[in-house]
Amino acid sequence: MREKITKLITEVEAFAAETKDEVESFRIKYLGKKGVLADLFAEMKNIAPEMRKDFGQMVNELKVKAEDKLNGLQEVLQAAHDNAKQADLDLTLPGDPIALGSRHPISLVRAEILRIFGRIGFTVADGPEIEDDWHNFTALNFPENHPARDMQDTFFISQEGGKDSIALRTHTSSIQVRVMEKSKPPIRILAPGRVYRNEAISARAHCFFHQVEGLYIDENVSFADLKQTLLYFAQEMFGSDAKIRLRPSYFPFTEPSAEMDVSCQICKGKGCNVCKYTGWLEIMGCGMVDPNVLTNCNIDPEKYSGYAFGMGIERIAMLKYDVKDLRLYSENDVRFLRQFSSSN
Ligand code: PHE
Repeated sequence: MREKITKLITEVEAFAAETKDEVESFRIKYLGKKGVLADLFAEMKNIAPEMRKDFGQMVNELKVKAEDKLNGLQEVLQAAHDNAKQADLDLTLPGDPIALGSRHPISLVRAEILRIFGRIGFTVADGPEIEDDWHNFTALNFPENHPARDMQDTFFISQEGGKDSIALRTHTSSIQVRVMEKSKPPIRILAPGRVYRNEAISARAHCFFHQVEGLYIDENVSFADLKQTLLYFAQEMFGSDAKIRLRPSYFPFTEPSAEMDVSCQICKGKGCNVCKYTGWLEIMGCGMVDPNVLTNCNIDPEKYSGYAFGMGIERIAMLKYDVKDLRLYSENDVRFLRQFSSSN
């Protein structure tokens, strides 16, 4: 018996096969249900008890050897199969084209605004979209019962309208506060971001849109600095013949405050339906930072002054690309999106 098994082990070790069928018959012969090993295991009960342990060990050795052999042979077959497949590969065939997307117009305009102000030293700041009352309203000098705090304008998350409320930010001016609180003048930042207002969705209004906020704080900053910076921006954005005008306005966090119009680029100031025959288009709010806001953010208003401005990206993109409906920006219609170049 011992000799028989030793012979079988040698046989298994020497076995070689080239085809799948040969490997399969090896498996059936040794490891199959009615194969050599099954017979040997069945034999076990006829072996004298004192020999049984020895016998068992040998049969086991044969089993392990046969299994190793089978695995080895199967691996070789698989590798040969993979190689054959690769040989079938025709590297001269044209590849599948990769469809390139285009940048979203809001991203294009935001990048352009950041580039223009980046050239005169403005860096980018960021803040959370879910904001507390302090950063969105109180620090910005909003009186306690200012209408902008109303539920009709603001999406509250908790404690509606109170001093402890949490809401979706209604403007990027909240980032002004965050930056002033944690840095010392000179401060020169631009803060792009998404903002939310509780408005009915139409061609001219949406419940979310994008703004870019600008803030400059230093010694001796004047309204003339603001005006010159905004003129520079308008001419870089809309062309060197663009003109601006500032109209007095009101924001709780700036004093004096203004709204800036740019000369209509579509009719060049002659009057058309886009500018409603005025020759001018409003593009942002701005003003000198109110001393109360500086104090709220631990900046000494006796020593420092500054200006701030905030513009809507959608609005500028509308003027630049002649988009007539705000909803197009968020509907993801590829016929709309494809019109914007991906090279920028
Ligand atoms: N936060 C104002 C708005 O959303 C814009 C603004 C920013 C005005 C900074 C003045 C200064 O309308």
